[in-house]
Amino acid sequence: MEVSGRTKLCALIGDPVEHSLSPMMHNAAFKHLNLDFIYLAFRVEKHNLKAAIEGVRALKIHGLNVTKPLKVDVAALLDELDFSARNMGAVNTVLNQNGRLIGYNTDGVGALSAIQEAGVELEELKTVILGAGGASRAVAHSLANKVGELVILNRTISKAERLASELKKLYQSEVRYGGLDSQTVASELSDADLVINATSVGMKPNENASPINSELIRPDMVIFDLVYNPLETLLLRKAKEAGAKTISGLSMLLHQGAASFKIWTGVDAPLDVMRVALKKALGEYP
Ligand code: ATR
Repeated sequence: MEVSGRTKLCALIGDPVEHSLSPMMHNAAFKHLNLDFIYLAFRVEKHNLKAAIEGVRALKIHGLNVTKPLKVDVAALLDELDFSARNMGAVNTVLNQNGRLIGYNTDGVGALSAIQEAGVELEELKTVILGAGGASRAVAHSLANKVGELVILNRTISKAERLASELKKLYQSEVRYGGLDSQTVASELSDADLVINATSVGMKPNENASPINSELIRPDMVIFDLVYNPLETLLLRKAKEAGAKTISGLSMLLHQGAASFKIWTGVDAPLDVMRVALKKALGEYP
């Protein structure tokens, strides 16, 4: 599809955005379905967020992805928030519906789809989430009323405590919390079914680090690492070696993108095309 006077613009805003894989993923999908859309990334510093959103209104930009550090602050500048964005207090997707800016959060749904795609049934699972930052919040909100038991462990315990108490209030579910020290991790993991790494430990350039001791991984566990760069983190490699089921961060990235794509276009996302585009961008394919 040629870019024309009718082409709709979707854009990522955040700081930094240079290394984002979303432009490759979404442009490949638009092209594949012959949709008259284009996706660009704009670096927007925090102090320029208000002006940027006014610009979205003035330029009638069709849709946004929002990334760090703007996900929380952008919520107050929109006209409406859907259920997930309201509960999480963070927005990663915006739709401009005839001038009304509606905020969504597809991170949580992306994590759920990644788990479902791996054939994992959540209902009875004791789930341990490592980390209590932005990514952890999205995952924890989407899992809080779907798993058997939820435990949040974080290096800074007060952040885990705050998240756990927020989840308890919103979803009336039992959520425990603790530190990320080796003793607590060993004891919580001893009967955990699903372990989700939502810390940045293991991310390039620190790919030789893992958030947990690999001896704690059992073959009947599911290990989900939200880190997607490298594609196979040390944690995932050790989990595979131990015979555990693994879910990669790329899967969550793909599914959150697919959910945003559907919001902007009304069309189901071409998952396979987007997956290949992501892997290509990460250097997995030539
Ligand atoms: P994101 O949006 O990717 O979640 P974030 O909000 O900055 O990023 O959160 C990063 C998470 O990784 C936090 O849980 C952080 O722990 P703290 O709250 O104690 O800072 C965790 N994290 C980062 N580096 C870590 C490290 N070296 N060891 C343990 N946890 C780490």
